[in-house]
Amino acid sequence: MSLLSIQHLQKSFADNPILRGIDLEVEQGEVVVILGPSGCGKSTLLRCINGLEPIQNGEISLKGFGRLGQDISWIKARQEIGMVFQNYELFGHMNVINNILLGPLQVQKRQRIEAEKVADELLKRVGLYDRKHDYPRQLSGGQKQRIAIVRSLV
Ligand SMILES: Nc1ncnc2c1ncn2[C@@H]1O[C@H](COP(=O)(O)OP(=O)(O)OP(=O)(O)O)[C@@H](O)[C@H]1O
Ligand SMILES: [Mg+2]
Repeated sequence: MSLLSIQHLQKSFADNPILRGIDLEVEQGEVVVILGPSGCGKSTLLRCINGLEPIQNGEISLKGFGRLGQDISWIKARQEIGMVFQNYELFGHMNVINNILLGPLQVQKRQRIEAEKVADELLKRVGLYDRKHDYPRQLSGGQKQRIAIVRSLV
């Protein structure tokens, strides 16, 4: 079975169909680019995979967990799926490291020392370790984007 398997996914906003029966298989380690004009539904597809948008039809399955929202709750599923939002959605009142560690500590109940070590390594990798205690408003767009990627990976 594929890591991620999407079958016949249909999503409308009111009576405006956006995703009209999407089938997609993603293998472990595979990198897939979703390409298309603005407004065609790329972000909507990603939001559906996280259960952030209710869908009208279809199934989304994750290897080892089954059908998301059915065999496994969306709350659990979201812990297995990282997402970088189009506008990053960093919490403005939290510094970089607290943005990154919020989910791992609050939701996953990980130890700060372990999660912070992972975060530090990734911050170094994206060249932002020295911005660890900065607030989002002090960062450039690209820096915010890389912090959002680190948050998602941790
Ligand atoms: N909450 C919503 N309510 C109503 N319509 C929405 C909502 N969210 C998105 N849409 C509409 O769904 C369509 C797809 O939006 P989406 O954000 O998925 O596009 P996209 O492919 O990610 O575009 P972009 O490249 O500009 O990011 C657009 O026409 C948009 O107006
Ligand atoms: Mg988008």
